[in-house]
Amino acid sequence: MNEEKLKKVMIQTLGCQMNVYDSERMADMLFLLGYEPTDSPWKADLVIVNTCAIREKAEQKVFSSVGRLCAIKQRRPRMKIAVAGCVAQQQAEKLSARFEGVDLILGTRVIHKLPDHVKALENGESRITDVEMPDSGGLSEENCPPAAQDYRRRPGGVSRYVTIMRGCDNFCSYCVVPYVRGRENSRPPGRIVEEVRGLVSAGAGEVVLLGQNVNSYGKKEKLCSFAELLEQVNDVEGVERIRFVTSHPRDLSDELAAAFSGVKKLCNHLHLPVQSGADPVLKRMNRKYTRDAYLERIEKLRSVSPDIAVTTDVIVGFPGETRQDFEMTLDLLEQVGFDTLFAFEYSDRPRAPARKFDSKVGQEEKNARLKQLLQTQEKITRRIHESLVGRTMNVLVEGYSRHGRSPRKQESGGCVEMTGRTSENRIVNFEINPDQGLVQPEDLIGKTAPVEIIRACANSLKGKMPVEESAVLYTSKGGKIHAA
Ligand code: 5AD
Ligand code: SF4
Repeated sequence: MNEEKLKKVMIQTLGCQMNVYDSERMADMLFLLGYEPTDSPWKADLVIVNTCAIREKAEQKVFSSVGRLCAIKQRRPRMKIAVAGCVAQQQAEKLSARFEGVDLILGTRVIHKLPDHVKALENGESRITDVEMPDSGGLSEENCPPAAQDYRRRPGGVSRYVTIMRGCDNFCSYCVVPYVRGRENSRPPGRIVEEVRGLVSAGAGEVVLLGQNVNSYGKKEKLCSFAELLEQVNDVEGVERIRFVTSHPRDLSDELAAAFSGVKKLCNHLHLPVQSGADPVLKRMNRKYTRDAYLERIEKLRSVSPDIAVTTDVIVGFPGETRQDFEMTLDLLEQVGFDTLFAFEYSDRPRAPARKFDSKVGQEEKNARLKQLLQTQEKITRRIHESLVGRTMNVLVEGYSRHGRSPRKQESGGCVEMTGRTSENRIVNFEINPDQGLVQPEDLIGKTAPVEIIRACANSLKGKMPVEESAVLYTSKGGKIHAA
């Protein structure tokens, strides 16, 4: 057997979807060098930690993770350790001073150089640092290629990410992204469509287009608008669903709002981070919109698509956030009726201007605000979920639910529980009984199936497949299983 084929790489991915995508690309590139994936650092010849710097806690996690790996390396000295991503970009010196065991530090804009650096490590070089940040001169595809054309090997399931742009030009005052990911650059639409085609041919049903601020897609490079890109992806045969993250409320154009009715495969969900419901805070955050402008955008969206699900991000305890400001945020949650939200306690980030702002909110108060915010949202989510009971919704089935294959389930009448998402991105878990022979679990994965919602849970919905539908599915001769 070819020795080369026996090399193993473990990639640990921390942080956002961008990192998930970058890790996939790194795996692609390393596969071409003869590396196969492994989950265990005890088996790996190379370990890559793909890191996140968005909040202080995320960064602490990186340092403890790298520390653990370096301890393992003492017992496996031939193992190479690479640190990539945002912390590598920003804290290269600290990483290299603190951890002797780290062999490669790779910045966010030089991922394409990974194979060269790994080859150098194999040839005995050590302690390579490459955190070059090519400036705004335009992001060539060289810096952002789909690494391998063999998409079938890419791990992952029904829903797959495609990065359409990198970096950010917004400079929100709390945010580290513009400093660690660089200026905003977009990939040409042709390359994106080509990658989507590849992913679909490898079994993807849903593509999620990724960028820090997708609404400004293509503007700098004069490519096409984001809405036009959506049309092009919509035309790719075999794509069932399109999602995108993240939009900036300031740039949410009427053209994009209209896409929610015009682009057939675009899901009925928008993630629109609001961060705060109080104008003075939004101003200091440098978000460049007001509470009213945000609400006006929501109204516009709902005039186009009345039952669109909107989710958001909120930061609590931003410097100078008063109790009254915070209550404005709670009030906004009720007013918009978000489906769900991601909430974060503010933390200072290197280079982000807010670190120097006065009137920092104390840790205890931040904890209390976070708790209250989550409780408020919980009630709203539950209310929305309860209003859906009795409805039948199309669910793109992703696989078995967490408990889907437990022995208890198997014993209880042979039912298995599957999981998937509605177009609104709501998680639905539903049981099917393969013993009845109507529909087999494996046949459902990657297909859109009609599921009746029977119960509301805190973070998901419980459903069942209507029996008559199962019968229809059963007789569908293995073709696409679709709701009418
Ligand atoms: N502190 C807390 N939360 C932050 N976010 C970004 N920077 C910070 C910070 N310094 C949150 C924002 C953003 C999400 C990805 O992370 O809500 O939308
Ligand atoms: Fe950070 Fe603001 Fe850019 Fe989002 S839009 S990545 S919050 S600077």
